[in-house]
Amino acid sequence: MRYQSRCAAIGLAFAVAGATCAAPSVRGQDPGGPQGPIFTVKNESGAARTINVAGFSVVATDNPFFLDLGVNGRRCVTCHQPANNMSVSAADIRARFEATGGADPIFRPNDGSTSPLADVSTVDARRQAYSMLLTKGLIRIGISILPTAEFDLYKVSDPYGYAGKNASGNELSLFRRPLPSTNLAFLSTVMWDGRETFQKGSPAAIHFDLADQANTATLGHAQDPLPIDQATRERIFAYEIGLYTAQSFDDAAGDLHAAGARGGPENLSREPFVFGVNDPLGCDQNGANCDPKTAVFNPFVFTEFDAWANRAGGRNGARAAVARGQALFNTLLIPITGVAGINDDFNLPTVFGSCTTCHDTPHAGDHSVPAPLNIGIADPPVSFADGGDGIHNAFGLAVGDMPVYALRHKMTGTLKFVTDPGRALITGKWRDVGRFKGPILRGLAGRAPYFHNGSAATLLDAVNFYDVRFGLSLTNGQKADLVAFLRSL
Ligand code: HEC
Ligand code: HEC
Repeated sequence: MRYQSRCAAIGLAFAVAGATCAAPSVRGQDPGGPQGPIFTVKNESGAARTINVAGFSVVATDNPFFLDLGVNGRRCVTCHQPANNMSVSAADIRARFEATGGADPIFRPNDGSTSPLADVSTVDARRQAYSMLLTKGLIRIGISILPTAEFDLYKVSDPYGYAGKNASGNELSLFRRPLPSTNLAFLSTVMWDGRETFQKGSPAAIHFDLADQANTATLGHAQDPLPIDQATRERIFAYEIGLYTAQSFDDAAGDLHAAGARGGPENLSREPFVFGVNDPLGCDQNGANCDPKTAVFNPFVFTEFDAWANRAGGRNGARAAVARGQALFNTLLIPITGVAGINDDFNLPTVFGSCTTCHDTPHAGDHSVPAPLNIGIADPPVSFADGGDGIHNAFGLAVGDMPVYALRHKMTGTLKFVTDPGRALITGKWRDVGRFKGPILRGLAGRAPYFHNGSAATLLDAVNFYDVRFGLSLTNGQKADLVAFLRSL
């Protein structure tokens, strides 16, 4: 095993009681002591809790997840913080910058800056170089277009001057949010583009994928020149797979498992996951052989807050709002059109579904089979010439700071414009351009912003996106209810 436990003056991003290396990004009370299996942390709308049911502390300081495995000071915990529901929030990253002058190991030019060539020599230069981390919590993933892809790169417009101009001339800069390394027992697909999904459809498959992912994360983010050994991969997996995170307290609604409700991570950890369960597209557990006609689908994906329906008065008013939001999430009619991965694959111009058509895994909200979808998150900004402001895309998402790639179909010459080709970079397929997985929707409060590119600063922004994208005409009351529900997950 090749890792060292180092307590650098800067860089440790988790709290070690009494140690000199505690960094300000760590908040949280831990009833089990600093090393216990329960970790509770306050956030903007209440408190979230992470538990580990596999016998580890949540802050398991001797697990390789928390150790320095590479050469640039990065650890898994650098980007997957217990205090941010095992992801990172843009607000916390800003606090880490201010506390360290941009020296915390999350600020490394290989993938923390807007370009690996960016000037990081002074604090001001670093503020500039790490702007995507500081504003949206985005890491730069570099992936090239496959030579065998059905498309090539026609034009790049990268405000940071790197994409498509690197040594091999074809590496794209993809700015993506760290997915939470928690609730992994519900995963069908690993990474936004599924690129770590080699085996699928069973717990053993996800085990294989996550062990491999632990290695590539160390080689990439921590710039380790050599693969980590199997024992280290297994130790990381054993720790990760025991983690469950959910909001446990809401400032308005109170304890999320009071009065018959079943919020919080303890309830979540007792929910089973079966690959392919409740898939409205009728795919098998591998996401293949789909036939919507044979689908067994129950739209009531979340039932956590059933007991709070129809309440009135005081705290009960806030509880009723959460229950109304849950009902909207499960059943609000959404005319799904123009979504690559649904309307094209199944040749159905409009599918009348709900939020749960895509967020179908009971109690977790990800897709229960690998089902990459293009809902428009990677659509480019609308230019002045086309009546836009050059910052927001057609659905109101702020993407003006992203590179825009013009991809050209090699046979037809057709162009597609995206800020991130997503799944298409893995498969080389034209129809996969702009497709991403539907992620787990738990522990959302405390880890803003949202979507793969952090383009929704708040949960209300995410709801507004759906309102515009699918023409829902939601009232302000409905939006507030949906937000009350989402932030209670
Ligand atoms: C520099 C920041 C950074 C570091 C360090 C890092 N990650 Fe990540 N992690 C990310 C980003 C960004 C993604 C999403 C990337 C994508 O999908 O393209 C991610 C995704 C993941 C996922 C996928 C979750 C899902 O829902 O598919 C897991 C699991 C994970 N990381 C575990 C780890 C482990 C284990 C380590 C240490 C070996 C680690 N990460 C180190 C940034 C980081
Ligand atoms: C047509 C499929 C589809 C429908 C319908 C849908 N979603 Fe999503 N959702 C996705 C996909 C795919 C993503 C990831 C997109 C990305 O980031 O590229 C996502 C992401 C999200 C996220 C961001 C999660 C995160 O961690 O960043 C939230 C919040 C969300 N959806 C809420 C909703 C709500 C609320 C509704 C109903 C109003 C809804 N979704 C309906 C497919 C869908």
